Amino acid sequence: MAQRRYFIKTYGCQMNERDSEIMAGQLEELGYVPAARDQEADVIVVNTCAVRGSAEEHALGYIGQLRQLKAERPSMTLAVAGCMAQEPGTIAWLKKHAPQVDLVFGTHNLHQLPQLLEQAEASEEMVIDVWQSAGEVVEHLPSRRKDGVKAFVNIIYGCDKFCTYCIVPFTRGKERSREMGAIVAEVEALAREGYQDVTVLGQNVNSYGHDLNPPRDLADLLSELEKIDGVRWLRYTTSHPRDFSQKLIDTIAASSKITRHVHLPVQAGSNAILKRMNRKYTKESYLDLIERVKEKIPDASLTTDIIVGFPGETEADFEETLDLIRRVRYDTAFTFIYSPREKTPAARWEGRDPVPNPVKKDRLNRLMALQYQISWEQNQQYLGRELLVLVEGVSKKDHQVWACRTHNNKVVLIDRDPAIDLTDRFVPVRITGAKTFYLTGEAVGNPLPDSAPRRVELPMA
Ligand code: 5AD
Ligand code: SF4
Repeated sequence: MAQRRYFIKTYGCQMNERDSEIMAGQLEELGYVPAARDQEADVIVVNTCAVRGSAEEHALGYIGQLRQLKAERPSMTLAVAGCMAQEPGTIAWLKKHAPQVDLVFGTHNLHQLPQLLEQAEASEEMVIDVWQSAGEVVEHLPSRRKDGVKAFVNIIYGCDKFCTYCIVPFTRGKERSREMGAIVAEVEALAREGYQDVTVLGQNVNSYGHDLNPPRDLADLLSELEKIDGVRWLRYTTSHPRDFSQKLIDTIAASSKITRHVHLPVQAGSNAILKRMNRKYTKESYLDLIERVKEKIPDASLTTDIIVGFPGETEADFEETLDLIRRVRYDTAFTFIYSPREKTPAARWEGRDPVPNPVKKDRLNRLMALQYQISWEQNQQYLGRELLVLVEGVSKKDHQVWACRTHNNKVVLIDRDPAIDLTDRFVPVRITGAKTFYLTGEAVGNPLPDSAPRRVELPMA
């Protein structure tokens, strides 16, 4: 019998990417191999994101497209997983509009994929198994990581912050930290396999460890991970400004491995809006945090997330956001138009989504114009500097250049000689050009030697 094949389509954040690696690991343990395209797969998993309406529309559009494929290949199993599955509205919608779906499971029970798949294969009906809350943290799940030198490691699941616009506490549940020993053991194993650029993940990594006995924190964890030979760069995402401690700033400042990229989602610059968002900090306390970061980590690149058009946002509130951007001078800002999410407090407020769409779009455009100008100016400071970059691969837009990343997360493009494969190598470069979204540079030395032999076989645990 031909080998059975799987295809996973992932939407959303790095937590979802990591979940997909675990689903892939489980499927490979069952004997499945990756399919190059969905048309060739015996199992398709759509791993969905619920953070904004647009993310949901993309996933539902894709599920809609798969109706035809399912009609042509009825023996194929189609599963829907991830954050949207945690929303009751999705189940009702799928039952009504997507009879092609065989299986729905959520973020809390993805470790059950093998059993659920078996049930779905034996059933004529759509199998739905979504847990409303998380069980114990499940360790030692198989995982199929991407080849290369970059690896992602979960450290904390869920979020207890309940920002009034955000669906995550509902789709990912309350905070649960992994034991530090388990994380250290996982990263040690990754380092032995040749992974050198490790990112620790959580919806709010800054609250890591408060629920452990004895309590731990992110600074403790990063200090332990720093000691592991073979790990060259350590990253962490995502941060919450409220929990970003001075101890963490000092730990980063003293470290040669922890990234100099500080991503601090601010969401808004107006205190009235921040309060209504339940962010638990003010514009002033946020700016103070940024000053302390800049003082101790002068080479830090700073990025943020901003929402425009939150319910009740006035022109004056929005001006506060522009003012904050001018003061911080971020390297990059990820900007979003407010999207009301079912179950969240803000979506229940009167008017639900009162800022008119054209106003939201106009604010987004003004915000982006300002930020692009600042990004360009920030990048000029890099001209002439020599930096180490990790070569991530051939640029998708231009095959003549390698796309690389610096320790502080800047994109650098360097000329590519097709005869030499630099993928996944660390290369010293000099910066020769600075644009709004990237730098350009030239190699000024040989790639560094690998810290560990490249893996020949992928581990399953
Ligand atoms: N509408 C718009 N943007 C949102 N984000 C989270 N929830 C919403 C929403 N309801 C943005 C925030 C967050 C990023 C991941 O997505 O800026 O930091
Ligand atoms: Fe999307 Fe948030 Fe779920 Fe990540 S955790 S997939 S961003 S809804």
